[in-house]
Amino acid sequence: MQFFLDTALLSEIEEAAALGLLDGVTTNPSLMAKAGIQDFDAHYRAIAKLTPGPVSAEVISTTYTDMVAEARHLSNLASNIVVKIPFIPDGVKALRTLREEGIPTNCTLIFSPVQALIAAKAGATYVSPFIGRLDDIGHEGMEIIRQIRQIFDNYGFETKILAASIRHPLHVLQSALEGADVATMPYSVLRQLFNHPLTDKGLAQFLADYQKLHARS
Ligand code: E4P
Repeated sequence: MQFFLDTALLSEIEEAAALGLLDGVTTNPSLMAKAGIQDFDAHYRAIAKLTPGPVSAEVISTTYTDMVAEARHLSNLASNIVVKIPFIPDGVKALRTLREEGIPTNCTLIFSPVQALIAAKAGATYVSPFIGRLDDIGHEGMEIIRQIRQIFDNYGFETKILAASIRHPLHVLQSALEGADVATMPYSVLRQLFNHPLTDKGLAQFLADYQKLHARS
């Protein structure tokens, strides 16, 4: 399973890359705003330069014609840009056109398996089901990953499942168990994946035993 970072902060992207765990990056307008970005194009170029894999950049437009024009523009910023398109009827139309033009897409704001099926039929490269936001309203977010996996396998869709809105390490584990192709996570979650009290305890014991031996000789 690939690990993408869900952030617009260059410092976090650099740190994940240094760990060797950066397969790609996803952004959205809220993350760009949170990072205080004014010049989106320049920032997408900077992210794309630091990232060895795909970088999702989201359109702001909501009509078919404008989304396609904006997607062409974003796609020209760097060779690893994937254009994020919201799951709305005009967005689905745009997915089909962009597929024909060879522009990779990530269909975002997916909250049901049938939305994912429609996006895959339209030729989306990725679908992004939002797990955490479903959990927030009392649904079992992970259930849609399971169902999308089954639907895509039933019909041989090549569209990749990008588990999004990940809030904690258990979401990453469950996404891997359910066969998501990618998990996109905040940097804080990526760091949490390293934590286990028995690892810390075991290391402390190994070092203490080494010191004891060393002190004797
Ligand atoms: C995915 O691409 C989205 O940017 C993101 O995962 C949404 O997460 P949130 O629900 O934590 O905002």
